[in-house]
Amino acid sequence: MDLQAILDDIHDSLSPRRGEGRVADYIPQLAHVDPKKFGIAVVTVDGAVHLAGDAQEPFSIQSISKVFTLTLALGKHGEAIWKRVGREPSGSAFNSIVQLEYEGGIPRNPFINAGAIAITDLVLAGHTPKEAIGEVVRFMRYLADEDDIIVDQDVARSEQATGFRNFALANFLRSFGKLDHAAELVLGVYFHQCALAMSCRQLARAGLFLANSGVNPLTGHRVVSHLRARRINAMMLTCGHYDGSGDFAYRVGLPGKSGVGGGILAVAPGKASVAVWSPGLNDNGNSLLGSLALEMLAARTGWSIFGA
Ligand code: DON
Repeated sequence: MDLQAILDDIHDSLSPRRGEGRVADYIPQLAHVDPKKFGIAVVTVDGAVHLAGDAQEPFSIQSISKVFTLTLALGKHGEAIWKRVGREPSGSAFNSIVQLEYEGGIPRNPFINAGAIAITDLVLAGHTPKEAIGEVVRFMRYLADEDDIIVDQDVARSEQATGFRNFALANFLRSFGKLDHAAELVLGVYFHQCALAMSCRQLARAGLFLANSGVNPLTGHRVVSHLRARRINAMMLTCGHYDGSGDFAYRVGLPGKSGVGGGILAVAPGKASVAVWSPGLNDNGNSLLGSLALEMLAARTGWSIFGA
């Protein structure tokens, strides 16, 4: 299989559609991104890297960071995290508040905003916000095995100034006694993790442990156990695209996590880690062209968790 030829072909056939979809503008700084950007990176478990388009340009990873804070929180607190968040798809928008009241402040899953804020609260345990942000950044550098991964401070500040709904979610959690730290402290960390700037190549490298039973094949480091890697993949499959998770599983057939910056990380267990980036979003807030690119990649490679 000539992966590079497949990527080039996907890139070329989708290129005329660059700019489709709606760029997220509720975080003002994200609206400044060129809507025509489009990149794909595939890193296989044997370390081969294939790139197409704008795969080396950093973008705001936003909610894709939730996969990595979930991994950190599991490392710190183990299965006890499931007392604070559920493991069910929400069927609601990523920033919805409606279920939180009648479900007593236990967010449906760790990937909707309410759940991710609860997870970040757990990552913050025993740290100052600055230390927790440092821990997340170091974790990403360790996973990608690259030192030049940074937080885009303009994006973090932009969300800090406008993230009223996240403040509402955090305060709501706190009112149920389900947030250990003040909303401002937890969101300080959350906005910075979301503002991590990474390229498709870096993101695919960082996600590779999930494709390789918990071991990063680039460094030989075991990041999580085999079982935990499977379970994180299960969460990505069922909840990673919010109310679009079923559609993504149907079309792509791989665990994936999207972000409103237009990125998607997808995992082909035993095969590869894939990152795509195109800022225009579909109605569920997931990258429109990115989802199409992954659908084409899965069809062309035969990669699917549902059978060969
Ligand atoms: O909290 C927010 O709204 C953003 N920082 C992240 C949301 C996001 O990426 C949703 N994913 N598609």
